Amino acid sequence: MALITLDRSISSRSFSSPLSSNLRAFIVIVQITILLTCLPLASGFFGEWGPDLEGPWCAKRPLDSQCCDGRDDYCGVPILGTECYCDIFCNETAYDCCPDYWQHCHGHFRPTTTPRPTTLPTPRPVREPCIKDGVRYGPGEKTSENCNDCTCELIDPVSGRYDWRCSNDPCLLRPELIQAVNDGDFTWKASNYSKLWGLTLDEGVRYRLGTFLLEADVLRMTPISVIDDVLPESFDARQKWPNLLSPVRDQGNCASSWAHSTTAVAEDRLRIETAGVMTDSLSVQHLLSCDRGEQMGCEGGRLDRAWWFMRKFGVVTEECYPYTSGLTDSAGQCLVSPKQKSGACPSGIMYKRKRYKATPPYRIRPVEREIMKEIMDNGPVQATLLVREDFFMYRRGIYSYSDLTSRRGDPETYLKSGFHSVRIIGWGAERTERGDIIKYWLCANSWGPEWGESGYFRILRGSDESRIERYVVGVWGKVSGDDVLRLLLKESRRRRLRTRRSRRQLRHIRTRGSRRRDRRRRMRALKEAFLATRPNDSRGHRQSSTSSRRRRERGHGSKKHKKNKNKKTQHRNQQNFYPSQPMVM
Ligand SMILES: *[C@@H]1O[C@H](CO)[C@@H](O)[C@H](O)[C@H]1NC(C)=O
Ligand SMILES: *[C@@H]1O[C@H](CO)[C@@H](O)[C@H](O)[C@H]1NC(C)=O
Ligand SMILES: *[C@@H]1O[C@H](CO)[C@@H](O)[C@H](O)[C@H]1NC(C)=O
Repeated sequence: MALITLDRSISSRSFSSPLSSNLRAFIVIVQITILLTCLPLASGFFGEWGPDLEGPWCAKRPLDSQCCDGRDDYCGVPILGTECYCDIFCNETAYDCCPDYWQHCHGHFRPTTTPRPTTLPTPRPVREPCIKDGVRYGPGEKTSENCNDCTCELIDPVSGRYDWRCSNDPCLLRPELIQAVNDGDFTWKASNYSKLWGLTLDEGVRYRLGTFLLEADVLRMTPISVIDDVLPESFDARQKWPNLLSPVRDQGNCASSWAHSTTAVAEDRLRIETAGVMTDSLSVQHLLSCDRGEQMGCEGGRLDRAWWFMRKFGVVTEECYPYTSGLTDSAGQCLVSPKQKSGACPSGIMYKRKRYKATPPYRIRPVEREIMKEIMDNGPVQATLLVREDFFMYRRGIYSYSDLTSRRGDPETYLKSGFHSVRIIGWGAERTERGDIIKYWLCANSWGPEWGESGYFRILRGSDESRIERYVVGVWGKVSGDDVLRLLLKESRRRRLRTRRSRRQLRHIRTRGSRRRDRRRRMRALKEAFLATRPNDSRGHRQSSTSSRRRRERGHGSKKHKKNKNKKTQHRNQQNFYPSQPMVM
């Protein structure tokens, strides 16, 4: 290496012996002259390298990145105190390619057409990488900005400037909208949710909702039932039926609100009707995976089809067929066929016959008081809600559409809506800071307990806010394969019809209160009697062991010989596994 040897010989000479100051000054001048002539070569002009600079340079780099595309400031090799490069960008400047770049990366020597710089080359512009949150990113590296993906790309090849190039989709959660809601004059507050952060608005509407709007007259309307009933100012089904309501669940990124709201309402009503004897959770997955045909699984479904499935086939328990679509984002295969009578559950446990069902659903008039009365008498109802872009950010308070997107003049792509079904479980009224009284519905969503007010939200009542009062549905529970539950439901329905008829004459709430206490007491007695006879089986399966047979025998014994005479009756009784005793009131 001639150059370096020369350099080193000069410096070694300058320290070797004491010389006169004149000579010293001369040597320094010579040294500077030599350095100046050598500088262009040393500082990066590798155009006319001698045999000593031939290399290997690029060939020294890691095998998989010896020659690089575009501009890559990491694609270099130290040389003579500076750096030479093995990327195509060195082609542009034509002076900082490594001496072996053309031979090694292109298989030939430098093309003669490339002009040779005659002046001292300016050094390669300082690398300007992409920066995010104080972290530097190299070319081609990716990051994301909320719902948009960004790549660090060469923006200007001449100056070598890099910057982020990002997709430009409207995001589901927009910090500026959250801010605007919280700063604005609204009755609710918004917040960020890590679970929803990073989704586009389109994805949110596509994956988080999932109810197709029904024609207004698909379901039979209930007759008007509120005449002059006094309805309380506030009501919460969780207080009237403690521990009976199904908890808030999380549908995940699967547009299955149609299945979630349907099973939740059916479950609530079954538990209420049986006064808590029925404790199972209903399988959302069963409805979601097995109600196919017109239903779109995780892309949405119709409520009338869902209720039809519940009426015709019913679902097994959550324990048997747990919800997995929140993780897989797809409805998956139907693992318990609608007509399958018994067998192994997807969860591995065994099940027998029992299916939770519902009667045909009925529609409640889109009248505030009618809906209130239905909830108070019979339990939570299913409602379909028009969800618009700001609803996803709801944190607390009484929601009504802010319309901020239009008010702020955002582009139309930022407006998006879809239908979503939820449960209404109560109502109330609240005084605002300005002293106005606003009425609200209390609803359960299916976006997990972290969302909103512990999974619930409140929404303006009495003005069909977001169409929540327009399509409200109720049902009665039904069950097959469990005779005690079935009888219990029948009894409860008969009683309810009776009270409804007599209630017409009622004028006073207190009378109803005592009647309710009376009913509760009877229900409790019924439940206790039932639990005493129920086999100790945590899965709720019917017990086929000897203990049940013994109980059956006991039951028959007390009935003397009456039934033993009739073999047909006896046979039927053996099929009806539970004794009729608890039903005697
Ligand atoms: C290098 O630059 C020349 C012109 O300057 C061009 O024709 C050639 O395609 C470039 N080579 C590469 C590999 O980009
Ligand atoms: C929202 O939450 C996500 C995840 O927790 C976080 O990365 C993001 O910075 C938050 N956005 C705002 C505006 O606070
Ligand atoms: C019912 O079963 C559970 C465990 O399965 C047991 O702890 C409990 O004592 C049993 N109760 C009766 C009344 O047998």
